[in-house]
Amino acid sequence: MNVVVGVSGGIAAYKACHVVRDFTERGDHVRVVPTANALNFVGAATFEALSGNPVETGVFTRVDEVQHVRVGQEADLIVVAPATADLMARVAAGRADDLLTSTLLVATCPVVVAPAMHTEMWRNPATQENVATLRRRGYTVLEPAHGRLTGTDTGPGRMLEPGVIAELARTVAEHGALGRGLEGKRVLISAGGTQENIDPVRYVGNRSSGRQGYALADIAAHKGAQVTLVACDTAELEAPAGAEVVRARSTRELKRAMDERAAEADVIIMSAAVSDYRPEHEATSKLKKGQSDDALSTIRLVENPDVLRGLVDKREAGETNAVIVGFAAETDNPLEYGKAKLARKGADLLMVNSVAEGKVFGQPRNSGWLIGRDGSVSEIADGPKHVVAAQIWDAIEGWTTEV
Ligand code: CTP
Repeated sequence: MNVVVGVSGGIAAYKACHVVRDFTERGDHVRVVPTANALNFVGAATFEALSGNPVETGVFTRVDEVQHVRVGQEADLIVVAPATADLMARVAAGRADDLLTSTLLVATCPVVVAPAMHTEMWRNPATQENVATLRRRGYTVLEPAHGRLTGTDTGPGRMLEPGVIAELARTVAEHGALGRGLEGKRVLISAGGTQENIDPVRYVGNRSSGRQGYALADIAAHKGAQVTLVACDTAELEAPAGAEVVRARSTRELKRAMDERAAEADVIIMSAAVSDYRPEHEATSKLKKGQSDDALSTIRLVENPDVLRGLVDKREAGETNAVIVGFAAETDNPLEYGKAKLARKGADLLMVNSVAEGKVFGQPRNSGWLIGRDGSVSEIADGPKHVVAAQIWDAIEGWTTEV
């Protein structure tokens, strides 16, 4: 893929080096187009060395190659990271006074913009109107992260981590612009696997890295939703931009966290792998081998509540109007078992994946079928978990308008 990484003049320009690296390591051809101000933060030599391509900022160098048009024409994807308030203002106005803005004016490929600025500048109506203009024109303007800014202040405006930007940009290249279909919606997502204590050091649990749930939360956040993510035991993953992350460990903690927040949710997704059973007794001190053989060799389990079914019951009781989505990981006959499970659980949609031979768990890719309560079955082709998440959101958005 021919990727143009545009860099504008903010301190986060140093992180653009890692964005460039992310693409080159995957074999993409990368051309870095900084603004003149960006080069006050990172030298052209760094971008040239990382990309293996020349770096120019103006339109009056190598004029014979008509670069101000060619770079944009040849791009398959343009990622602008960081995008300052000034850069977005110039692009929104249709300016073309340097190589980056000319390239953007020419390009017809997907464009992903990662803003970085102080909170006040981000919230300024001028910036917000420019962002809305770019989104209306089909750009995917990502939400900035919340966190530490250049000085001592914190708030929304921090640039997303380079790996997250690259992943989202690849998702847009494969799936298309993310769109703002979830603007104003509140979504509640569970991710990871629950754990049930045997004693203070041992537990029974379910395998799940939480990656698919995080990807769903990530995509929702950049589509404009207000996201709450209930994270059980998950891999070390970057919190989705602006999301509230709530930790839960056992199934009962997960149930409490989901039930408490169900009433205000517009969409609920249960992607957590839930322990169906828990030890009947939890020992308060460590069970010792040799002394407590019986307690360790025979653990009596009792059934846990079904969190998803409980949420559907709440809806039937009029306590929530949310669209409810479940997940099913099956080793055999996934489609057949999935259809039966959807009917049993009463959810609107069920994403069924086949986990035979170690597929899916902890892996960056996923595939399966998305089945609907209305009898619909859509195949989800093998793809990165963010692309799968974008497809699931397309189906949910369709569903939201149906019900
Ligand atoms: N689930 C839940 N509470 C449980 C078990 C499962 O909320 N106690 C949810 C999962 O988060 C998932 C869906 O139900 O969205 C299906 O989970 P799965 O483990 O496949 O279903 P089970 O009902 O446990 O069926 P199985 O016998 O196949 O384990």
